[in-house]
Amino acid sequence: MRKKIVAGNWKMNNNFQEGIDLTNELIENFKPTDLNKQLVVCPPFIHLNAMAELFTENEIRLGGQNCHTSEKGAYTGEVSAEMLKSVGVRYCLVGHSERRAYFFEDDQELFQKIKQLLAKDIQPIFCCGEMLEDRKEGGHFDVIEDQLELLWKLSKTDFQKVIIAYEPVWAIGTGQTATAEQAQEIHKFIRSRIAKKMDEAIADNASILYGGSCKPTNAAELFSKPDVDGGLIGGAALEANDFLGIYNAL
Ligand code: PGA
Repeated sequence: MRKKIVAGNWKMNNNFQEGIDLTNELIENFKPTDLNKQLVVCPPFIHLNAMAELFTENEIRLGGQNCHTSEKGAYTGEVSAEMLKSVGVRYCLVGHSERRAYFFEDDQELFQKIKQLLAKDIQPIFCCGEMLEDRKEGGHFDVIEDQLELLWKLSKTDFQKVIIAYEPVWAIGTGQTATAEQAQEIHKFIRSRIAKKMDEAIADNASILYGGSCKPTNAAELFSKPDVDGGLIGGAALEANDFLGIYNAL
């Protein structure tokens, strides 16, 4: 059965105490509505271990924001999939547009990261999305098709562990969310690509999240679309009420 997910990406926000305070607020107010609806939080690395301990009695799951392409070694400043696994991480973002733009992550690197995560049984949340220029020129479907290409190198078994997040770059942090119709159109396209490259059943089971200025006020409309299986949330994940409000719209 297709899993519904709301994942929060804190990005580079919240010092240690602020992170703990927000975590406690989430724990106090989170009421899982259905076992098939998962809440995930992706904080900076420094919070992971402490949050894992706070989440032990809770259904909230932990995600990383990044991992390295190699298993281990002399890569100063980096964190491996094995390290994430060792503190209880179950999900990890890969290919967020900020990583692609500011850290020049290319397809080969993203593929290596996905392989590292899968080897440790961590589910990659693979992000894709077009820039405003692409959409204005009508090239958004081509961009998404290109970005998805690396996923087709995975075996069917591996691919089924990948969650896809469609995040139009022009909607991230801008307050300009895609309309539910624009999101649905791309999500349906992504699902059709999966059906073609994997098979119908795998496509039907794939979770495809929408990200980009998703708020409690627009979440219900976005999530009402048949191919939108949840959201990847940035700004609104920094406030417990907003984040849980989005979850409750699932
Ligand atoms: P936003 O960010 O919700 O602040 O637009 C989404 C994201 O970058 O994942």
